[in-house]
Amino acid sequence: MAATLDSTFADHLATVQARTTAALAAHRYDGIVIHSGRPRDHFLDDHAPPFKPNPHFLWWAPLLDAPDSFVRYVPGERPRLVFHQPADYWHKPPTVPDAAWLKSFDLHVVRTPGEARALLGTAGRRIAYVGEWQDEFGDWGFAGANAQPLLDHLHFGRAVKTPYELECMRHASVLGARGHVAAEQAWRSGASEFETHQAYCFAAGLREQELPYGNIIAFGPGAAVLHYQQLQRERDVPRRSFLIDAGAQVRGYASDITRTYGDGDAEFGALVAAMEDAQQALCAAIRAGTDYREVHLQAHWLIAGVLQRAGLVTCSQETAVAEHVSSVFFPHGIGHLLGLQVHDVAGFARDVTGATIPKPDGHPYLRLPRTLEPGFVVTVEPGLYFIDLLLEQARADDRGRHIRWDAVERLKPFGGIRIEDDVVCTTGAPENLTRDAFAAIA
Ligand code: GLY
Ligand code: MN
Ligand code: MN
Repeated sequence: MAATLDSTFADHLATVQARTTAALAAHRYDGIVIHSGRPRDHFLDDHAPPFKPNPHFLWWAPLLDAPDSFVRYVPGERPRLVFHQPADYWHKPPTVPDAAWLKSFDLHVVRTPGEARALLGTAGRRIAYVGEWQDEFGDWGFAGANAQPLLDHLHFGRAVKTPYELECMRHASVLGARGHVAAEQAWRSGASEFETHQAYCFAAGLREQELPYGNIIAFGPGAAVLHYQQLQRERDVPRRSFLIDAGAQVRGYASDITRTYGDGDAEFGALVAAMEDAQQALCAAIRAGTDYREVHLQAHWLIAGVLQRAGLVTCSQETAVAEHVSSVFFPHGIGHLLGLQVHDVAGFARDVTGATIPKPDGHPYLRLPRTLEPGFVVTVEPGLYFIDLLLEQARADDRGRHIRWDAVERLKPFGGIRIEDDVVCTTGAPENLTRDAFAAIA
């Protein structure tokens, strides 16, 4: 794995430099300093949550454990990595990196964050700062911190992934697929949600804090909670279905994968199969030039068809979409950009200026109203759930008359269905990172 990532890193960094050069020029900066971040203790405590680096830092330097380090870049000069390795005997200081990708940087090791100041070269230059602000940087001479126009410009470009980033995400998909296979086996063999989560982490080779988001491991009715966060310890719970939304990360790049399984019940099994067909049709629609809002609306159309054929609604497909009956069962967006952040930046961006593209009317949860371009990585994650809160709202308004409540009651113990793949938009046919990863480990 390291070999393919190392061989593509230099080109990635060249792209990052070119995009940053353009953004700096547009906003009249001479250079940029990016801080990796700093752990912050819990309130009234001396322990911090797991360190999560600034994604801008990871875009340049794949260092997941390097708090208080800096990347400094001035166009025309080699990028500089100021690596913080404190003299500390309470914790193991981060290891000074010795990897092929470092050849692209000038490396400086400092023992305190303050020592970095002299290496950042702000005197007489307009150097932009990007990162969580620390009061001690107040007199370091930065020409502004996290200026929104500069961030907007940098974020817009991040939607198009480099070959290196795609390779990271292919590997993250394989780790995720390994975890998913193990988790399914655990659920089938009677493990609790908590044990199933542990089986996932073990097989993916990740500790919990290395996951890109908290695993969603939901049995039965829990699958109706979109971001179900509990991990029940008991095995003897309703468990007729299993929804797992879990990913992995490699060098900071995420996978985001969901699968749903049933206990053999024919009606629920047919519903899962119908959703899988719809999901695959939507994955095939990930093409350059396609407005992702259209993919979202197509998802409502397909899910309305699934609802109708399953006998969950009595109205036409047209009515189910037009009167938002499909939204009762599918109340989230069809997907989002994926990358260094699970819900990656710039989903709404019209261009580099920070102007945004509106969501379709009546669809407040779509995170990506952009037109797809080669290099975008998006998730495709249609869902169909039995959510009491939304069902009761629908029962109380006009939509309830279209719903077959007996069918809803039969299917409620299964909670819901979501199937989520990560898909690369290319100049031709889409690349499905998730399906490829499951196939590769089969
Ligand atoms: N795992 C969060 C999401 O699918 O968006
Ligand atoms: Mn997900
Ligand atoms: Mn997702």
